[in-house]
Amino acid sequence: MTRAERRVAAPRVVNIGDLRRLAEQRLPRVVFDYVDGGAEGEITMRENIRAFEEATFRPRNAVAIKDCDLRTRLLGCELSMPMVLAPVGFSRMIHPRGEVASARAASKAGIGFTLTTISGSKLEDVAAGCPGFKWYQLYLVGGRDAAEAALARAAAAGFTTLAITIDTGTFGNRERDVRNGAGFLLGRGLFGKIPYSAQLLAHPVWLARFLRDGGMLELPNVIVPNRGPMLLSETQASLAASVVTWADLKWIRELWHGPILVKGVLTGDDARRSLDEGAAGVIVSNHGGRQLDCVAASLRALPEIVKAAGGRGEVLMDGGIRRGSDIAKAICLGARAVLIGRAYAYGLGAAGEAGVARAIEILRAGFQRAMVLLGCKSVSELDRSYVDIPASWQRAN
Ligand SMILES: Cc1cc2nc3c(=O)[nH]c(=O)nc-3n(C[C@H](O)[C@H](O)[C@H](O)COP(=O)(O)O)c2cc1C
Repeated sequence: MTRAERRVAAPRVVNIGDLRRLAEQRLPRVVFDYVDGGAEGEITMRENIRAFEEATFRPRNAVAIKDCDLRTRLLGCELSMPMVLAPVGFSRMIHPRGEVASARAASKAGIGFTLTTISGSKLEDVAAGCPGFKWYQLYLVGGRDAAEAALARAAAAGFTTLAITIDTGTFGNRERDVRNGAGFLLGRGLFGKIPYSAQLLAHPVWLARFLRDGGMLELPNVIVPNRGPMLLSETQASLAASVVTWADLKWIRELWHGPILVKGVLTGDDARRSLDEGAAGVIVSNHGGRQLDCVAASLRALPEIVKAAGGRGEVLMDGGIRRGSDIAKAICLGARAVLIGRAYAYGLGAAGEAGVARAIEILRAGFQRAMVLLGCKSVSELDRSYVDIPASWQRAN
């Protein structure tokens, strides 16, 4: 066992909450809060987790399950379980091997990985360590020409599916980031950093690694014509100026020949529109409660969207998954698969690739145990009859 593996082994780490605590100890406040925080009152972020607590199981007991089959077919690929790592921007700030380490851990575990546009690592380097199932997530930062070039590179590097995020019309108001001076700390100017630098100096191991890594100041997959890679400090303003619209979806469909998923769908109307525009499926998501606060928890929105999709495309979901049993609940309510964000980002902060692998292992073991205790021997058996949800979740229209 390596030192990093030992750090995240039982009994020190037995659940995702333990990985979160370790990440909190190891990362500067500004980085931990960037991962852990949400928008404004963080109401949606908390609701994402609470919704899973409100959905209760209806097990079929006295059933002996010897082998539980977690395998799932998704968009032409077979996953070892119905789980994909969600796009997490600036992962290289969490750990220098950020996106590369996460993609490797996903690939080794036989699950999918999604690379964000705002990655600090070249997409080719991520792909090289990830022979498995990989998706590229698109923002239009840097403009259409930059996006076109990135899509061509992603397709050439073996990314099979494109996830287009539609809930980022502007940057969510993440108050923890403002308080911690995230903008100043990631920007170029030296003087603006001074009032906030104590939080970095309090974590010399992280700081030394971050500086040795070059201080992640560029986005190597967003090449602005005649200028070169976009700077990290420009991302927020550029995101606000580059909302993805339905008109863009048409244009992107001409460029990208693989399946497209629309990420950030919270209503039946947007789900129908996505499928009408040619998407292969939708990801029910509120960006982990980081964008518009007070939207519904993803799990709560899921039944409406499954109904609206009517089997015309895949429905995936993310937001609030911290236990394997949460995955079972989402599948019972109609999701084909789930994406996880913070659960693996905490692992990355706690111990790099070993921490991501541990997060995946914890969720896999929990999912398998939940299936056995429900009396289900394969993922395809999980359905609505295994969970109860509050009556208030059903919309009248
Ligand atoms: C630190 C962090 C960075 C994120 N960056 C992106 C991103 O670049 N693109 C995107 O579409 N979603 C991004 N998300 C949202 C995730 O893809 C996902 O929707 C969300 O994390 C799911 O909620 P969970 O963290 O509760 O699992 C980010 C989430 C976190 C926590």
